[in-house]
Amino acid sequence: MLAAPPAPGLSTGGYRTRSEAGDTVLAMDLSGLDPNRMPRHVACVMDGNGRWATQQGLPRTEGHRAGEVALFDAAQGALELGLPWFTVYAFSTENWRRPGDEVRFLLNVIADQLLTRRRDELHRLGVRIRFIGRRDWRVPRWVARRMDEATRLTEGNKNMTLTVAFNYGGRAEIVDAVRSIVEAGVPAARINEKTVSAHLYDPSIPDPDLVIRTSGEYRISNFLIWELAYSELVFTDVLWPDFRREHLRDAIAEFQARNRRFGTTGGADLDGLPG
Ligand code: FPP
Repeated sequence: MLAAPPAPGLSTGGYRTRSEAGDTVLAMDLSGLDPNRMPRHVACVMDGNGRWATQQGLPRTEGHRAGEVALFDAAQGALELGLPWFTVYAFSTENWRRPGDEVRFLLNVIADQLLTRRRDELHRLGVRIRFIGRRDWRVPRWVARRMDEATRLTEGNKNMTLTVAFNYGGRAEIVDAVRSIVEAGVPAARINEKTVSAHLYDPSIPDPDLVIRTSGEYRISNFLIWELAYSELVFTDVLWPDFRREHLRDAIAEFQARNRRFGTTGGADLDGLPG
């Protein structure tokens, strides 16, 4: 599914962000993009923080710190591009197995930077912040509280939804959806794809049109595995801390060069097919 064309002034050349505070003026060159074929939802696997740090002779944690800066730049780029939905994989259900120091650092980056400092900046930019993932005993209560606060604070924002996948696993999401369907007492014969989609962590999020993975790894790693059935996948060698809004633009240009057929021969009216 494609997004509505970007707002007036967003079609060619550089343009202004839709900052509510009117404080950010950016001039990304968008001349290569077709404003009528913008993706509605872009999701990113932010990979390569550790390798980036090692290349710089720094501890791995510095890669995550730099990754947070990259995330904010990409999110501003997504706004500039007029994307209504932007999702990032911040912490997987498997990431708890990393050394304790790294897990603690990541939690702090997410809670202190994203959920405190950036939260207010994103709020000013009209971004709604959401989370998907399991709220199990491993998520510290103070982190969960800040997640809820950020969600509540930004709930009414309309410019873009930034969804952060935290303690997220695609298989876990499907398992949780099945549990929720069973708990709701839905008869087996009435379960179809729509039922499963309606029981995902946030059913209001459209399936991603484009999934980007950085760092030259060609895997999905348990990210949105139900939702990305028809997504275009773009892989880039750029390590996440070096990722900037221009890389997002380039990935969208690659997306626009693809021919999405959704399992048809391409001639049919594709409206209404999952995206
Ligand atoms: C993968 O790189 C990245 C992560 C496990 C975490 C992603 C986190 C950030 C970008 C930090 C900021 C996030 C938020 C939401 C504020 P890796 O460590 O697996 O890198 P490697 O494959 O090179 O070891």
